[in-house]
Amino acid sequence: MSPRSPRGTEKPRAGAGGGPPAVDMRVTIPSRSGGAALTMRNPVMTASGTFGSGREYADFVDLSRLGAIVTKGVSAEPWLGGPSPRIAETPSGMLNAIGLQNPGVERFCESDLPWLAGQDVPVVVNVAGHTAEECASVARRLEREDAVDAVELNISCPNVDAGGMAFGTSCDAASEVTAAVRGATGKVLIVKLSPNVTDIAEVARAVVDAGADAVSLVNTLLGMAIDVDTMRPKLARVVGGLSGPAVKPVAVRMVWQVAEAVDVPVIGMGGIRDARDAVEFMLAGASAVAVGTASFTDPSTAERVVDGLEDFCHSRGVARVAELTGSMRTDAS
Ligand SMILES: Cc1cc2nc3c(=O)[nH]c(=O)nc-3n(C[C@H](O)[C@H](O)[C@H](O)COP(=O)(O)O)c2cc1C
Repeated sequence: MSPRSPRGTEKPRAGAGGGPPAVDMRVTIPSRSGGAALTMRNPVMTASGTFGSGREYADFVDLSRLGAIVTKGVSAEPWLGGPSPRIAETPSGMLNAIGLQNPGVERFCESDLPWLAGQDVPVVVNVAGHTAEECASVARRLEREDAVDAVELNISCPNVDAGGMAFGTSCDAASEVTAAVRGATGKVLIVKLSPNVTDIAEVARAVVDAGADAVSLVNTLLGMAIDVDTMRPKLARVVGGLSGPAVKPVAVRMVWQVAEAVDVPVIGMGGIRDARDAVEFMLAGASAVAVGTASFTDPSTAERVVDGLEDFCHSRGVARVAELTGSMRTDAS
């Protein structure tokens, strides 16, 4: 039997020793264009760029326990990334200006993908490009790969000069690049939104109208830090993307706004460190969540979030984790 075949198809485990029935942790992101859905064992994904292609974490994490692995951004040609220093620590978070360093889609398909295909976990490939056509060409190449379950289009990277965040901060550009990638892939298409906008719901509506099956948010918030002793910026690019707990309240607010505005699943991320953080995103309207920066300090974070989510549901008598989605109470009771 192929190690990939049982992915996401298990029935929920029966309660041990006659205990309460197990929580159904499964989450599905349907395809609106008739393709295969993204079916996950649980709602916990890894955030792009913070988990490599999974291989770097395989000694520390049982990858098959995750909902899905989202790879680092992949472009048509190899990208070198930005100059050093590319990382700076800030209170409650970090700044990065990696600049989407990656080996290009061909090399990714040759070296990372075959390994990922053997890991018994759904694979989502994060796609980047300087132009809409470049993004579409990556999606077209990935279309030939059965090991790819979904494409996440990054229209929100603050660390590249062309493409990246420029796509995600204009409804027209966001719509154009989404439509181009939609035309290139029948796989589930997730579009990753930028928080560096005035009205994120408006951009979400634009990409859903252009064919996105789901949206993910947030990418990093544009930030900056200066070393007062050297009087120099802490990042060589001067500005970079802020992530970690510092961004969580902004991210939860945006997930809530977007979930109210669109009819497709929302994947929430930004500062998730434990199951309670994940529950917060789900109550705000997220169908799934992703763990990013926290994996750098504790590689087992995503696994802990899976266990903690299940425990949370158990303790509250929630039979299906999906019931948490959008269940925030705003009444007086
Ligand atoms: C070092 C680093 C690299 C990242 N690279 C990507 C990337 O390639 N593509 C992408 O869509 N998001 C990328 N992100 C954004 C994360 O996936 C995530 O959206 C963001 O960090 C917020 O989540 P967090 O606070 O849990 O890290 C990167 C973030 C970090 C910290």
